[in-house]
Amino acid sequence: MIPDPLLINDWHPVASWQQLEAAPVLGTRLLGEDIVVWRCGDQALVWQDLCIHRGTRLSLGKTDGETLICPYHARPHPPEDGSASAAGERPGSHDDARR
Ligand code: FES
Repeated sequence: MIPDPLLINDWHPVASWQQLEAAPVLGTRLLGEDIVVWRCGDQALVWQDLCIHRGTRLSLGKTDGETLICPYHARPHPPEDGSASAAGERPGSHDDARR
């Protein structure tokens, strides 16, 4: 991560809507961080490219149009997850996701 507040607190283009229409889940980098850009309905969401359950890149997942689905355990991440984690979640807390 680049600790420059002038860059962090600014807008940066990371994908076009046309790209998200063609591929609704995109992985890219911004300011030294891996991020996932995904289309959720008529909005684009940008998250850290990380599922904290087992560290999988969410950009390898898919979307059903309303949630971003982790490619490893297929856990759906709704838009309100934001960071793709629930409060208090830690590795191993979703062991039932492997079934
Ligand atoms: S690694 Fe994403 S749900 Fe398990």
